[in-house]
Amino acid sequence: MTTTGAKPAGAKDEADAALAVQQMFDAIAPRYDLLNHVLSANVDRLWWWRTARRFRTVLADPDAAVLDICCGTGDMTMALLKRRPQGARPIVAADFARGMLSRGARKFGAGEAGKPYAVALEADALHLPLRSGSLDLIVTAFGFRNLANYEAGLKEFNRVLKPGGQLGILDFSEPGGLLGKAYAVYFRRVLPAIGRAIGGPAGGGKDGPYNYLPASVGNFPAPGEMLALMGATGYEKCAWQPYTFGIAGLYTARRALVE
Ligand SMILES: C[S@@+](CC[C@H](N)C(=O)[O-])C[C@H]1O[C@@H](n2cnc3c(N)ncnc32)[C@H](O)[C@@H]1O
Repeated sequence: MTTTGAKPAGAKDEADAALAVQQMFDAIAPRYDLLNHVLSANVDRLWWWRTARRFRTVLADPDAAVLDICCGTGDMTMALLKRRPQGARPIVAADFARGMLSRGARKFGAGEAGKPYAVALEADALHLPLRSGSLDLIVTAFGFRNLANYEAGLKEFNRVLKPGGQLGILDFSEPGGLLGKAYAVYFRRVLPAIGRAIGGPAGGGKDGPYNYLPASVGNFPAPGEMLALMGATGYEKCAWQPYTFGIAGLYTARRALVE
């Protein structure tokens, strides 16, 4: 297997790659929500909603321990919160870019009158400050692709999940066929140009964030390779559900019951 992790331009090793990603998201944080909705024509809302719906059963359990890792400005967390019952245990929403996380934290609420809420945690996905075997569900939206080491990320998620605990990884993908070709033009040429126009020359990575996005999707393992990696790192019932013609997709799995 050749899979390693994100490689922002100019990063020499994994520590360098993680730092470049962190700095890039901190720089882009003030414009992130606007950019996201414009560049995806609001389809991102549908993808978060579908992901939350997929985990509706575990989310409906008020005692379920839920982590949204790489939560960024918190829109995935908000979609998960809509499925939590009154008085539910708070969702832990974690990210290592403070600029992103602080914007998310403003949306999460504080549990007034038993309303479902989330707590913000500044943490690295590869070194989670959480007890082994403590979580029922981990969700990550458009974050996993940015990890400096995919195998290490899957192993760390596996460590903190309970046996049988569920994992959902929502991320971009590269569709095949004619649509794939048209989409590649949008993704590699149009999207970086719109991104630069709205977001300006935000730092992070030698090529800046708008070239990083398509490059990181190109570097991300295809579904077959990703599913094999999940199977090799302690997960079972691994599956991939394409969203919107495979532009994005949701990986699902559970921590194996027996090691
Ligand atoms: C594209 S944003 C996605 C944010 C949000 N989940 C969403 O769907 O809009 C990716 C996020 O992953 C975070 N991230 C990347 N690598 C991380 C790591 N190793 N630990 C924690 N957060 C990380 C970034 O800081 C960024 O906020």
